[in-house]
Order: sequence, then structure tokens, then C-alpha cells
Amino acid sequence: MTIVPVALGARSYDVMIEAGLLARAGDVLAPLSRGRPMPIVADANVAPHLQRLRSSLDAAGIQSETIIIPAGEKSKSWATLESLTDRLLELGVERGDHVIALGGGVIGDLVGFATAILKRGCGFVQIPTTLLSQVDSSVGGKTGINARAGKNLIGAFHQPKVVLIDPRVLDTLPVRELRAGYAEVVKYGLIDDADFFSWCEEHGAALLAGDAEARTYAIAHSVRAKARIVGEDEFETTGRRALLNLGHTFGHALEAEAGFSDRLLHGEAVAAGCALAFGFSAAHGLCPMQDAVRVAAHWQAVGLPNGLAAAGITASAEQLVEHMRHDKKASGGQIPFLLARGIGQTYLDKQVSLEDVRSFLAIQPR
Ligand code: GLY
Repeated sequence: MTIVPVALGARSYDVMIEAGLLARAGDVLAPLSRGRPMPIVADANVAPHLQRLRSSLDAAGIQSETIIIPAGEKSKSWATLESLTDRLLELGVERGDHVIALGGGVIGDLVGFATAILKRGCGFVQIPTTLLSQVDSSVGGKTGINARAGKNLIGAFHQPKVVLIDPRVLDTLPVRELRAGYAEVVKYGLIDDADFFSWCEEHGAALLAGDAEARTYAIAHSVRAKARIVGEDEFETTGRRALLNLGHTFGHALEAEAGFSDRLLHGEAVAAGCALAFGFSAAHGLCPMQDAVRVAAHWQAVGLPNGLAAAGITASAEQLVEHMRHDKKASGGQIPFLLARGIGQTYLDKQVSLEDVRSFLAIQPR
């Protein structure tokens, strides 16, 4: 088993990674349960994993009621949060108890937030079942729901007590979702680890095709990177954690243009957004053009969109910039952009002119 510590003082916890871990979850969670029940929150998509988790908890003598939430982003709502917290209260969840979030980012974000506010904070365990949630959203304590005005606008930092990652659950994940999650893996190489980007160039296709060793290696490497960055800037105040938003400002505009729908998954938008961030950096002489070309070539090699055309976005530059103005990271009319001096050399630039962004987007192929 690989254990990655997330060092956050009193809020520290471990991320445990092992193929087949779901079937051993009961043994691992027994000390946390201390004889108390551990409710499971899941969606209908994870039925086979739920079965395995329940058997494992049963075998370890841990009682577990299951609460099923409708699959999809719509569940990150006040209405679902209300019914979930009501149900957890009915089940008698106490402050020292732990609720298990079994699923992708939606379940993790929702359960994280519900447990952040239930009785002013109780414990939760993340068991992420998508590549995206395994390498990003389950680690670091960002939790929340969506508001009418935008995604993730209501939430709290609330760290899980432990994260259990079983790479085998990815065997049943639709390949498009797997690929979208892979974009967030590559992102760690682009941020500050050029060697890992080279590893992705060499092994990315095998990982997507099902190579178990490559998957476990990439997950562990990504979780270590995330744990390091979150450990340096838990509450995103120094700019360090903001590096994790590489590709997200351009990507957010594309997602908004696609109506935050299945037309363009979050990870696909992040891939295209990273390509645009590197393209913009190269166009402004900040980064070698060959690095921007490498990024775009890797996305193409693994079937991820590497620009507006590949993402199916035909909107004008003006429309895209307008979406950026509504980005939640905007502050005082200025939008912070993650730019690059090269692969593995990303930095935060708060002075980027939106007129420069508009001109750059205007000449991108559609
Ligand atoms: N997914 C970005 C972060 O956790 O900060």
C-alpha cells in the first residue's frame, strides 16, 4: 500500500492507495468507527463498488446505512444538501462520527460540505471512484455546492479524516471520464514537474488503456503533488494552491460556453485550457513555442481537446472573455491567470490584460 500523508497540523490525514483497497475498507476504517455506524453516501453509478464496500464494512462489524443521491452535478444544490443533512440527522450522526463519501467529485464535494456544517462539523471519509476525484478533488478539503450565480460558490474548507483510493474501481469507468481525469494528472507535470510530464508522454496511452501499474504510479504521484501544494497553502492565500487552477480560467470560459454540460467535461475543458494557457504564454514570448506545441501534441495523442476547435467551441473571443469576467477568481475586475515559462514552470500572473486574451482567442482556429 502507498500512504501519502497530507500534513496540515491538527487536520492532517493519510491518503491510502492500493489496488483492491475497497474490499479491505472495513479493516482500515474500524479504528475510525470506534463501534459507531458509518453512513455511506453514494450515487446509483457506483452500485458495484457500494456492494463491495458494504460487505467489507459488514465483515468488520461496522453498521452502515446507505443514502443514494441522484448522479450528476445537479445534486450539488441546496435542495439535495437539505435532504442529505436531514437524513444524516435522522440517522443520529454525532460530531465524532464519520460519513463515507463513495463516488466522484459531486458526492465528495456534497458530503464534505454537509459534514462541515452538520452539528458544526463532523468527520468524513473520501472513497473517490473517478480518476479526477482520486487525483484532485478528494484531497485538500475543498467542499461545496453550486449557486444560481455559478459553480462551487457556496462551500467550506473541510478536510476528510482519511482518503481511500482503489485504482481498480477505474476499470469500470467510461473511457471518456477516465481521459478527462487524466488531464488533471498531466496538470501536475505542467505545474512544476517537467519529468512527470515526460513520464505522461511515455506512459499516458498505456494508463488510459488499462495498465494497472501506470495507473497506480500516476495516482500516487499526483496525490503526492497535491498533498505538497495543499500542505504549503491550505486555504489558497499565498498563491501556491492557485497553481492547481492551471488551465481553469480558459477552461471555465469553454465550459460556460458549453453550458456546463456533457458537451464538454470539466477535465476536457482543463486540457484545452492548459493548451491555451501555454499557447498564450508562448505567443507573448514567456515560454518556448516548442513547449506549447508539446502540450497540444500530448492532448491530441491521448484524445483530449487541445484548443477551441477540438473542444467544439465556436464562440467569439468577446463571448469567451465575457465568461471569464464572471469567473469566481476575478477580484477587483482583474482575473488571475496561470501562465508558464515552460513545462513545469507555471506561475500566477494577476496583471494579464483581457484585451491581450481577447486578441489571442480571436486568432485561435475554430
Ligand atoms: N482543485 C483545486 C484545489 O483543490 O485547489
